[in-house]
Amino acid sequence: MTVQSPPPILDRLAELGTGGPPPSIDSIWIDGTARPADGGQTLVVEDPSTESVLANVSRGGAADVDAAAKSARAALDGSWATITPQARGNLLLALAQLIDDNADRLARLETLDVGKPLSQARSDMAGAAATLRYNAGAADKLEGISVPLGPDFVDFTELEPLGVTAHIMPWNYPLGMAMRSLAPALAAGCTAILKPAEQTPLTTLVLAELAVQAGIPAGVVNVVTGLGEEAGAALTEHPSVAGVTFTGSVETGRRVGAAAGGALKPAVLELGGKNPMIVFDDADLERAVESAIDGAFDNCGQVCSSVSRLLLHARIRAPFLERFVERASARRVAAGLDDADLGPLVSAAQHDKVIGHIESAIRDGARLCLGGGRPAGMDKGHFIAPTVFDEVNPSSPIAREETFGPVVTAFGFSDEAEALALANGLPYGLVAGIHTADIDRALRFARGLAAGSVWINGWFIGGVQAPTGGIKDSGFGRERGLAGIHNYLSIKNIGVQFHRQANAGDDASA
Ligand code: NAI
Ligand code: MG
Repeated sequence: MTVQSPPPILDRLAELGTGGPPPSIDSIWIDGTARPADGGQTLVVEDPSTESVLANVSRGGAADVDAAAKSARAALDGSWATITPQARGNLLLALAQLIDDNADRLARLETLDVGKPLSQARSDMAGAAATLRYNAGAADKLEGISVPLGPDFVDFTELEPLGVTAHIMPWNYPLGMAMRSLAPALAAGCTAILKPAEQTPLTTLVLAELAVQAGIPAGVVNVVTGLGEEAGAALTEHPSVAGVTFTGSVETGRRVGAAAGGALKPAVLELGGKNPMIVFDDADLERAVESAIDGAFDNCGQVCSSVSRLLLHARIRAPFLERFVERASARRVAAGLDDADLGPLVSAAQHDKVIGHIESAIRDGARLCLGGGRPAGMDKGHFIAPTVFDEVNPSSPIAREETFGPVVTAFGFSDEAEALALANGLPYGLVAGIHTADIDRALRFARGLAAGSVWINGWFIGGVQAPTGGIKDSGFGRERGLAGIHNYLSIKNIGVQFHRQANAGDDASA
């Protein structure tokens, strides 16, 4: 009897949203194949544009994490260890090509799962492929150093893979965030267990399948779908996991960091922000408005680095806000597949959190300039219209906490010192931006701003080459760039002491 292999997961997922009943998908990827969760429990995956069920996936727990860890450990010591760094790089290039080849279907799937406009999902797919290529090129350039200890020694370092790494991911850029940490981990020679956010597991499943198709040995990329407090917590604590990379909320980040610390494993924590954009009165207003609009409303504001606080010099506050509100009100909101400017929020919970911030802002006396709730006529889907507040009470949650939705708050300032105090006055420190025509002021401010990234006269500046991450409550560690690969390397120092010969030096003349 021949065993029929199941149809590729991408073919099955490509059918989603075309009218059939939601399929049940075995989504625990271990050792190169998909299986159901131990115990058979499942999770519902929803389309936030329509609130309909897209699929059911496996709800993994501790037993699944344990199986994934065994698979990742075996691959780390076996097949993956025997491959040259250059060959590892080539496998990442092959995976990048497969992502490009399947970009349309992947983007559609990401759009269904997250709700984001199709063209934004397409650019996420291009970004995922670019991330693989950047890290692929680094795989055979991870060089140690030679250390000058003196005539009696040879001392050098080798960069070894950290081991089995855990990647706990958020829902805003599912494939993009998976790749941001997976690609450098693989380039470094690690094996990985991915835990996608429970809201958005679908493209990560395709990634696991494409990794196998690319020729990456089974067990190098494992996926456990499931809830944070079940699969995520088990992964953080598992003794075979050498390091954890997490992106998400401050609250969960504290929990993951504490668990990793308790188990003495390094963690990279990217925990979001309440990012200020400071606009001085000498700025090119048109340009500043343009970048603030993108910064505030891309991905429906569900971006760790989005613009959430506009700090406006008193002289330009009114004209800036007038133009900003005009531009924001022209942003079209629609289902992801309709490819407007904004899709829905990812889930009912996220929708309710954002509405909660809006309602408390109004209660606390803020002036609503635009939006403030569901766009007229859209009563299905987790939609919120672009929302702008001025005169916000500085102690209101909307002024202090990450909102993670299409909502911006404006504040005024009258001099540099006040702007800096406002910008740095919260516990977060991920991104801060400045618009000014004065280069001295821009660079002086860049030094003074408490943030992991400072963007001058633009927003979302960077890419896979530029390191990103936070200070203070925005977390620690840097991803992207060459710094991102070093999260997945361990330095080994090897020292050799020469045997002292009594007649050393005689040999040369002999
Ligand atoms: P979350 O931080 O709870 O979830 C992020 C990931 O962590 C998910 O994969 C989740 O399953 C996992 N997780 C949850 N509890 C865990 C635990 N105890 N141990 C290990 N893993 C665990 O974020 P959530 O609830 O989805 O969103 C809440 C807020 O977090 C958002 O409103 C937003 O403010 C922020 N957030 C920030 C992101 C960023 O890019 N920095 C991304 C997503 C959310
Ligand atoms: Mg959660």
